[in-house]
Amino acid sequence: MNGQSVISFTRGVPATESFPKMKLAECATAVLMEYGDEVLQYAPARGFRPLRAHIAAETGAHEDQVIIGQGSLQLLDLLARMLVHPGEVAYTEEPSYDRAITVLRRAGARVVGIPLRDDGLDVDMLEERLRRGERPVLLYLVPDFQNPSGSVMAAPKRQRVAQLAREYGFWVVEDLPYRRLRYWGADLPTLRDFAPERVVQMSSYSKLISPGLRVGYAVLPPDLAEPLAKMAEDTYINASYLNQAMVYEFIRRGWMEPHLEYLRALYRPRLDAILEALEEHFGGRATWHRPDGGFFVGLYLNGSVRADDLLRRGQEVGLRLTDGRGFFANGGGDGFVRLPFCALTPEEIREGVQRLAKVAYGVLQSLK
Ligand SMILES: Cc1ncc(COP(=O)(O)O)c(C=O)c1O
Repeated sequence: MNGQSVISFTRGVPATESFPKMKLAECATAVLMEYGDEVLQYAPARGFRPLRAHIAAETGAHEDQVIIGQGSLQLLDLLARMLVHPGEVAYTEEPSYDRAITVLRRAGARVVGIPLRDDGLDVDMLEERLRRGERPVLLYLVPDFQNPSGSVMAAPKRQRVAQLAREYGFWVVEDLPYRRLRYWGADLPTLRDFAPERVVQMSSYSKLISPGLRVGYAVLPPDLAEPLAKMAEDTYINASYLNQAMVYEFIRRGWMEPHLEYLRALYRPRLDAILEALEEHFGGRATWHRPDGGFFVGLYLNGSVRADDLLRRGQEVGLRLTDGRGFFANGGGDGFVRLPFCALTPEEIREGVQRLAKVAYGVLQSLK
């Protein structure tokens, strides 16, 4: 490795320099002074009421439909355990968020991946499977700046999936942690906009303020909210009200919008840098989505590659990569490389992509 610093394209984490530490310290003090007795006590499982009311107003839901958890993944886990009976089918995008696949499998689901196209899920294939009689309990999607590929689902596809969910009676879980990190262009409607009675919408403050706060939420149809709240209560009583109240205070003080603008300004050049570097080093030799936001660009290498070789050679040149196979529920994914770009500087990104090109071409050639 010649003493060069390691570049890590592994975890999809926010840039540590983005954490608003002083502001959060002020929020913590204010919250303890103002609602100390409430936030330090046991409390109802659905979460800190002012924050739930805020989320309800933002999403046009009733406050009772909003449940705040210790991060959104925890709520997905509870939801999966509540909805899935062993052996039932759950659909994901292919590739999809690896931890969601794990959570669904652990709940007993047979997870089936529906391929992603450049404009999101292959809805024709989804419809064909449904018409053939397969009955999924749910479809898990990340429609905005998907983890791991960066892809965005086109608006007409969102509408069609919502219609299919109605027609065939399955739940759609749309997970939107990156939605507000849009660097260009305008927001698309959510799936919940089209079928609120069939869609569970999840999101999180992990990527918007700090993942260490562990504040994520779900907006659910009323029939699901009640049993999920009961399950949450029986599992952990309540998630941290102190952290939820800090998030609420951050929003109440009007700090969220300027912070989002700051994050967009920080991350936009990083996305520019990775897209330029990919064009330079992989043009014609790999494909990737061109996201307008989020944390990831997913690279599909042309030709056959073994993930183990890619990871090992990466280590040799000071490049940490995630095993692409974890994102593919149906198997495969050896030649898929998820590239999280937000926690790296543009210089590190350029250097990292250059090292990746060296490794990828070496591995591809060694197979010839
Ligand atoms: C699509 C997606 N959902 C959920 C999570 C987890 O979010 P939280 O920190 O709210 O549990 C992540 C984190 O990377 C993610 O990418």
